Parts: sequence; C-alpha cells; structure tokens
Amino acid sequence: MYKVKAVGAGSIGNHMAYACRQLNWDVTICDIDSAALERTKNDIYPSRYGAWDTEIKLALNSEVETENFDVVIIGTPPDTHIAIAINELKNSSPKVMLIEKPLSTPELENLNELEELAKSKGTKLCVSYNHTTTQNTLFAENLIRKGVLGTPKSINVQWLEHWGGIFGAHPWLAGPHDSYLGFYKRGGGSTGEHSHCINIFQHFSRVLGMGEVTEVNATMDMIENDKVSYDQNAIIALRTENGLVGSVITDVLTKPAKKAVRIQGDKGFIEWYVNYKDGFDAIMYQSEGGEIQEELISKSRPDDFQNEIKHVGDILSGHVKIENSPISFETGLQTMKVIQAAYSSAMNKRLVQINQ
Ligand SMILES: NC(=O)c1ccc[n+]([C@@H]2O[C@H](COP(=O)([O-])OP(=O)(O)OC[C@H]3O[C@@H](n4cnc5c(N)ncnc54)[C@H](O)[C@@H]3O)[C@@H](O)[C@H]2O)c1
Repeated sequence: MYKVKAVGAGSIGNHMAYACRQLNWDVTICDIDSAALERTKNDIYPSRYGAWDTEIKLALNSEVETENFDVVIIGTPPDTHIAIAINELKNSSPKVMLIEKPLSTPELENLNELEELAKSKGTKLCVSYNHTTTQNTLFAENLIRKGVLGTPKSINVQWLEHWGGIFGAHPWLAGPHDSYLGFYKRGGGSTGEHSHCINIFQHFSRVLGMGEVTEVNATMDMIENDKVSYDQNAIIALRTENGLVGSVITDVLTKPAKKAVRIQGDKGFIEWYVNYKDGFDAIMYQSEGGEIQEELISKSRPDDFQNEIKHVGDILSGHVKIENSPISFETGLQTMKVIQAAYSSAMNKRLVQINQ
C-alpha cells in the first residue's frame, strides 16, 4: 500500500484522493485553508462519491510538511505549483511527485531548480495530463499501431468548453476574477486551463512518430479589463519536428462542450472524443474507405483519473520507466513551451519557433 499526500483539498485533490483510495492507498489530504478541509469532508467528497471515506486523513500543510510519502500530488492553483513542489522536495523525498496541469505559469520560472532538486532526491516528476492514459487514448494508440491511418497527415484538436462547469464545481468562486482562471499570466484563460488540448496533440504526434512541436502561430480573443486578463478563445497552428501541420482550437465559451481530436492519414482517420455523449467517451475510425467504425467507451468522471493513478503505481513498481511515461515532467514541460509560445505569438502577431 503506497502512502500518498494530496496537497490542495479542492476539486482535483478530491478526484485524486478518490482514485488513490480505489487502489487502497493510504491517503492524506492537506491544505493551507481549514475551510477547504472541512468542505472536502462535508461536501465535495460525499456529494461526488456517496460518502466521506474515514480512512482519509485531513491535515493543515504545516502538520505534514516533513513527513515522508511515496507520492505527493500537487493539486493547487497553477501559479503555486512550482514553489510548493520545491518546498516539498526540500522537506521530504517522495518517490513520485505528480504536479497538476498546467505545470506552471507561462513564465516557466524555476523549472530548472525543480528538476535539479528532484534529480538529487531521486524523485520522479510527473505532470497530470490524465487524458493520455484514458481508455479512448489507449484504443486510438492501438489503432495507430495496427496501421489504420497509413502515413499521418494532420492532427486537429478542438477543446471547446464553457467554463460554467468549472464554476459549478466551485460555487464558492464569484467568477473568473476570483481565481487564477481569469488571468492567463497565472495559468488561467482557455489556453492554460484547457491545456489538455495542446498536450493531447503532442501525445498523438509522438505516438505517430512526428516529434515535438517546433512552430507556433496563435490568434487569441483576449478579455482585458480592470478585473481580468485572459484569452476566451485561442486558435493555435502548430508544426512538428517531422513536418506534421495541425491545429488546436480552445475556448471557455462553447456549450455544450466539444472535446475532440481528428487524426488524418493517407489511408484513414481516427476521431477521439471525451464525453461524446452522456457517460461515454468514443473513438470513430475508418481505414481504406471501409465503413466508419464507432467505439463507445463507458466512463464516469472518476474514471478520467483512475488509469492515471494506476500508471503512477506502475512507475512506483518499476513496470513503467519515467522516460516512457506520457505524463513525465518532460512531456508537461513541452506543453508549457507551446503555451508560452502561443501567448508570445498572439501578443506579438508573429510565428514563434521552439528549439528542440
Ligand atoms: N487534470 C484535470 O483534468 C484537472 C481537473 C481539475 C483541476 N485541475 C488542476 O488542478 C489544479 C487545482 O484546481 P482545482 O480546481 O482543484 O482548484 P481548487 O480551487 O478547487 O482547489 C485548490 C486548493 O488548493 C489550496 N491551496 C492553495 N495554495 C495552497 C498551498 N500553498 N498549500 C496547500 N493548499 C493550497 C486552496 O486552498 C484550495 O483548497 C489546477 O492546476 C487545475 O488546472 C486539473
């Protein structure tokens, strides 16, 4: 049984704690705010999963700061991730540290220090892009391995989701101005908050052998006033090392949400969907002009995180090497580089190159 600390008793802290408890891991959730701990026990956890789990320990940060855990999960706002991660590593030596997405703010500050510290402690760093581990992704990877696509030609991602759902899960927030969400410099806005879209493009590009992103050209619709500063809509064109051209479009406007990837090859296509319909992810595909196949994958919201936590277990047990993990620090860092380049491109109205 692994010992886990989830830092941040908010929405994701609860999801992660629940996923770890499904594997019977020993879970402590900590926060700087005692009201957040109370809310976890009395509201978030029981309303989502049916009942409070009395095996979970709740603590203020200061009470568990120097205790050693096998896994530390950092589920706090993006602009706090790196300072918390560095502090954790100065005080303890977890085997794995899983940092929520996006890894940091677009400034990418202190990432070298974090990496060096983790290396010196023997801690494997991960970034929580959980959609790379879900069943729909594994199904699509299998089709790619079987050669359904032929030569890959393009990847186009739509991650269009009104953020009413996020505020629904955080009724204590008065609006985007009340958290990082309304500030792109703090990791909010559509590109930061929905950065799964960039990450899943990169994931499939790697699986297809098309390499990392090297060119970024973005247009954004910015909301700037005395209360907020964020992109409500971002259209990002990408080119990869091995010449694949595609796009990522994301917003905090569209309802109902649409989260989809279309991968086109010269022989066929694969479409990947999150929440294709209520209770289901999906994959559609066609090869060599045959019938379009539809694979519905039953899932609940907790399932979005279960494979990821199992994957963390595989890293802990040595079954998965961190270099081969789709949630490695390196993959999360590559996503941050594209986020940074996208803002730079949109602000300066020019194409930005990323040196690989
Ligand atoms: N992978 C996913 O699909 C997914 C889903 C939801 C959220 N997230 C990510 O998780 C992170 C948190 O989002 P959320 O919706 O859970 O936020 P939230 O506001 O619900 O919770 C954040 C919690 O962190 C606490 N906190 C802040 N600073 C802290 C500190 N120094 N030490 C301990 N606790 C601290 C706050 O008090 C709060 O309780 C964000 O980066 C978000 O993008 C990821």
